[in-house]
Amino acid sequence: MTSNSTDAPEWARRRSFAIISHPDAGKTTLTETLLLSAGAIRLAGQVRARGENRRTQSDWMKIEQERGISVSASVMTFEHRGLLFNLLDTPGHEDFSEDTYRTLTAADSAIMVLDAAKGVEPRTLKLVEVCRLRDIPIVTFINKMDREALDPVDLLEDIQDKLALDATPMQWPSGSGKRFKGVLDIATNDLLRFQKPGEDRDPHEPAERVALDGSAIGEVLSAEEADELREGAEVAKELCPPFNRQSFLEGHLTPVFFGSALRGFGVRELLEGLADIIPGPAPVTASSNGNPVEIEPGGKEVAGFVFKVQANMDPNHRDRVAFVRLCSGRFKRGMKLKTEAGKQLTVSSPILFFAQDREIADEAFAGDVMGVPNHGTLRVGDSLSESGKIRFTGIPNFAPEILRRARLADPLKAKHLKKALESLAEEGVTQLFRPTLGGDFIVGAVGALQIDVMRERVAAEYGLEVDFEAAPYETARWIEGDRDKIEAFADRHKSAMAVDINGDPVFLAKSAWEVSYSEEKFPDVSFHRAKERS
Ligand code: G4P
Repeated sequence: MTSNSTDAPEWARRRSFAIISHPDAGKTTLTETLLLSAGAIRLAGQVRARGENRRTQSDWMKIEQERGISVSASVMTFEHRGLLFNLLDTPGHEDFSEDTYRTLTAADSAIMVLDAAKGVEPRTLKLVEVCRLRDIPIVTFINKMDREALDPVDLLEDIQDKLALDATPMQWPSGSGKRFKGVLDIATNDLLRFQKPGEDRDPHEPAERVALDGSAIGEVLSAEEADELREGAEVAKELCPPFNRQSFLEGHLTPVFFGSALRGFGVRELLEGLADIIPGPAPVTASSNGNPVEIEPGGKEVAGFVFKVQANMDPNHRDRVAFVRLCSGRFKRGMKLKTEAGKQLTVSSPILFFAQDREIADEAFAGDVMGVPNHGTLRVGDSLSESGKIRFTGIPNFAPEILRRARLADPLKAKHLKKALESLAEEGVTQLFRPTLGGDFIVGAVGALQIDVMRERVAAEYGLEVDFEAAPYETARWIEGDRDKIEAFADRHKSAMAVDINGDPVFLAKSAWEVSYSEEKFPDVSFHRAKERS
């Protein structure tokens, strides 16, 4: 990692962000073009190619390969304008939304990619809700302007209405599809010119600028198009609040950029926008010995939390990589860190993830994401610090929507099964519930694909043949309340009670209706869809 030429501390150069979108809006393409724009990769195709390389390394990732989806989230670091960007990649498939949600806990901002022909789609909505839990600032990129798009005013209204976010266009498009001529930079009144097919540029270069009120504009736009663009930009200014950085940082306002990721258009400008406005690491509230403490990114003690654990690519070794988001301090290779439960580990080979490579890090700072190889010591949601006294909260578990009973072909291997299921639940792949009555484990997942991954991994890594058969439950809720109230509830629902991997009580419900009925009948018990890892 290069050292900083200015006096600003290293952590202040970090910009950790995630890209969120509904599948097919163009997240992968934008990721790649952003990396190209920043000069972090040189050839298109490397993001996908890297995924493919990774896939050949692991048996269980066969599923990814077969279905052409990316299951594992990773991190790509690149440098631009003296800033170090950590792009947190999130799985595109909706079955892995839980993984995505957790990844968002490690990001300080997010880019929301919308398909210009579709606007806000269901999955975008869900992801923005998660960003909202932590008020992460959101930058909007309206993609695929080279195709027929919705009216830009309708797109902005869609954002305001569906997401309850103020939208401020930083640019205004001139046409779309075949008539797409470029976007007006509202701050400078320059048209950023879209090149026609066959004139593709290097996305590393900024777009050509033509002053809207200059004489050269006639070469790009007809008089009618220029008028239409002026009017459009006027309407936008009247309808939308001006950009206000504070309001953006608080998560109330999203600046909107337009472009075409596939054609590399508008991406360089988006990157400059990111460098101008997205925030670096902010203080995080955590607890120390049960008391709330503010963890400052410039603080002395090294502290962070695990937001993802990935099994090692090599199935012959049981080691895993824990993705740790650092929140304070200057980490040095070889440092000893402790979890809040007192487990200690020496971090001798921390990994930083550059766009083309992974390297062993000698140092890392608040805002960085570091891969920590370990043999199962670290779990999703664990806090790591020098003192072992800091505890971060807020890594969510979501109520599973699919519940399956794990049945072994060979009942003598029950102990092995317990170990395998526990270990995968610790990684955060699936959730594990042990019913109060009966011996079978219930496995919960947010999407069906997670169950398939689980079956493959249990077979490949533990040599166990397991059937995940239908369970008579549809959903689960974590329950909370005074002890006597919980006991009264549990007494009435003996066959539907279970505990999760941390021993917390869970109600396995037959239907959503049963949940609302129970909520009415037991007003002193709260039923939670999400649980923060403790
Ligand atoms: P995702 O990660 O959000 O799921 O989307 P991805 O980038 O894979 O893009 C989905 C499809 O949309 C791809 O086409 C991609 O080429 C296309 N696309 C992305 N950005 C743009 C854009 O700015 N303009 C246009 N016209 N298309 C865009 P595909 O046919 O599904 O895949 P491929 O065969 O091109 O890889």
